[in-house]
Amino acid sequence: MRILAVESSCDETSVAVVEDGKKVLSNVVLSQIDIHTKFGGVVPEVASRHHVESMTYVFDEALKKANVTEKDIDLVAVTEGPGLIGSLLVGINAATTYAFAHKLPLMGVNHMIGHIYSASIEHEMKFPLVALLVSGGHTELIYMKEHMSFEILGETLDDAVGEAYDKVGRMLGLPYPGGPLIDKLALIGKETYHLPRPMLDPNSYDFSFSGLKSAVNNMIYHMNRKQEEVNINDMCASFQESVTDVLVSKLKKAATEYNVNQILIAGGVAANKGLKKKLHETIKDIEIIMPSIEYCTDNAAMIGAAAYYTYQKKGSLPNYVIGGQSSLDY
Ligand code: KG4
Ligand code: ZN
Repeated sequence: MRILAVESSCDETSVAVVEDGKKVLSNVVLSQIDIHTKFGGVVPEVASRHHVESMTYVFDEALKKANVTEKDIDLVAVTEGPGLIGSLLVGINAATTYAFAHKLPLMGVNHMIGHIYSASIEHEMKFPLVALLVSGGHTELIYMKEHMSFEILGETLDDAVGEAYDKVGRMLGLPYPGGPLIDKLALIGKETYHLPRPMLDPNSYDFSFSGLKSAVNNMIYHMNRKQEEVNINDMCASFQESVTDVLVSKLKKAATEYNVNQILIAGGVAANKGLKKKLHETIKDIEIIMPSIEYCTDNAAMIGAAAYYTYQKKGSLPNYVIGGQSSLDY
């Protein structure tokens, strides 16, 4: 089954062609990061406008790279949420138009389910598993007993982990998005600043990163007042140690309690080198799978993969347009 997938929930315009959920024939991603860097974060209105400008080109490129036409496509899939409403609408309109023009079935896909299934492109999912979803908008611990079954064990009560990375990056004067740069500098620095480990409550799988972000802010403020120089590399290392301690400890506890066969990490922050290192050092007896970098951050191939498994589970092609998909309850 060949699926043409569209993703435009935030600041990446992406179209992919995916065969049987695994074979990525094309995955064209046009990032707007350079445009939003000037503003220190994603400006929704600007993002929507750029999606409009790029969508046709990205569509054409994806079909050309995959060497297919509409006659080779069995299903059109598109991210229906969560995300920036203006951005989502551009992708939904493009996918709906393409499907309508070529009389193809259309499926709406939940963005977070897409992130989970990004790991299935290069790996076999083994159930039961626990998934840690860490992106700019979400931090969730999810139990899956089988395909397309999602039980949210815990989630962030305030900031998402990627958001905390980006805000701390801004406090340190780093360009947007701060996450990848903090990760890089943390590898050079040392954990010399003592920061809290938020929500290490053994009875909860929920997360909270707002207090940690404030702790960094307060520390920088007091050091500035005393005219002490902040060692940026060390602050990055200290922040990253705190974040990864919390993520890994909750993940390990959930994996043990639910006796899982596999741990799955996905979302933009899954690209974090410090997180990967700590995970492999701490959890040795359970298989850990995560997507390679190109599938960690937003891309349409993951939407194509999620659509394939949704189709498999339902056993039939959808006859609806958008909505009604078995989705996480956002
Ligand atoms: O999944 P994603 O591309 O978009 C959302 O759905 O949010 O995630 C983007 C987030 C940003 O906050 C970015 O700073 C973060 O992922 N990120 C990282 C790294 N690479 C991307 N955070 C920490 N370490 C990284 N290496
Ligand atoms: Zn995402």
